[in-house]
Amino acid sequence: MKILVLPGDGIGPEIVAQAKKVLAALQSDGLGLELEEAPLGGAAYDQYGAPYPEFTQKLAREADAILLGAVGGPQYDKLDRPLRPERGLLAIRKDLNLFANLRPAILYPELANASTLKPEVVSGLDILIVRELTGDIYFGQPRGVRINEAGEREGFNTMLYSESEIRRIGHVAFQAARKRNRKLCSVDKANVLETTEFWKEIMIDVARDYPDVELSHMYVDNAAMQLVRNPKQFDVMVTGNIFGDILSDEASMLTGSIGMLPSASLDADNKGLYEPSHGSAPDIAGKDIANPLATILSLAMLLRYSFSAEEAAQRVERAVKAVLAKGLRTADIYEAGTEKVSCSAMGDAVVAAL
Ligand code: NAD
Ligand code: IPM
Ligand code: MN
Repeated sequence: MKILVLPGDGIGPEIVAQAKKVLAALQSDGLGLELEEAPLGGAAYDQYGAPYPEFTQKLAREADAILLGAVGGPQYDKLDRPLRPERGLLAIRKDLNLFANLRPAILYPELANASTLKPEVVSGLDILIVRELTGDIYFGQPRGVRINEAGEREGFNTMLYSESEIRRIGHVAFQAARKRNRKLCSVDKANVLETTEFWKEIMIDVARDYPDVELSHMYVDNAAMQLVRNPKQFDVMVTGNIFGDILSDEASMLTGSIGMLPSASLDADNKGLYEPSHGSAPDIAGKDIANPLATILSLAMLLRYSFSAEEAAQRVERAVKAVLAKGLRTADIYEAGTEKVSCSAMGDAVVAAL
């Protein structure tokens, strides 16, 4: 099995290095994996002049699974849009048809006090956000900045979903709900936006194949509020690209830190790209203080979804739990009475716990 590793930018290389240590430890136990590495985002622009160069594209298409750190950085923000790191990430998602983004927000009991919400609000939290990843306003055409009839400049994007795009993410979400508590909440803004009213209509139709799953609907503004009011009311949430982007960052704080939220971006055959839900954190890059656990937990998702290596996936997750139970914390989840460790020390501790 071939894994392509894309360290990316900012803290990307630091957190990916920790996941690679975990992979190496699993390898020595006989997991037959072949690793390759390529640049994506700003690192790829620096080396090849493009954020998703052919070199990376070829390896990405050949790989069975991809592990990504994060992309982006202030030094790239003034580049022409097609050259920016974020475009590289959007391009690889689209190129590989990774339309299903799974973002599980699980609170490890040891981190109940790390959340900014009261422990009783978040304890036992286990929700799954299913975010559509290759459609919506992210990709809709037309887009850009133009001069309008009054001679003024205006910016515009197009929120757009085809029926088949909604159906396929609907099936992913219903199937995920079936393996959990059989509750699915579809998040929309059907009271204002035609695209998402259509989304709701299709979800209701897909639901007919899943009579054992309870489907509910919520407007996105209310969903954002309910996530911090009473997050445990949710089991699986399904939503479009932009709402899912925002709600998953919000949900990450329920788990203590955005440094704890892994993700899997899957195509129809479970070929996947796995990455933490957070970005390249330029404010802390190069300091060896980032939390690598979201990346390590993304590796566990890789083992589970792309390689059906459930046992190895659970070993990694147990190791993360054990390290937290020992009281080791990176700065983002630190609290009095625990031991603050660096990014690399956290990686070493997970390997030791394996
Ligand atoms: P960010 O997620 O990078 O950072 C937000 C805040 O969370 C920062 O204070 C950061 O220090 C902190 N943080 C993030 N990950 C952390 C970790 N593992 N450990 C500890 N703290 C962590 O979001 P941003 O600042 O809005 O974006 C920075 C850059 O990252 C931008 O260029 C953006 O486009 C890019 N980005 C990339 C991805 C991705 O590659 N998937 C995701 C989001 C943002
Ligand atoms: C994410 C990121 C990306 C997104 C950006 C960097 C393109 O925020 O993976 O959540 O918006 O999808
Ligand atoms: Mn995001």
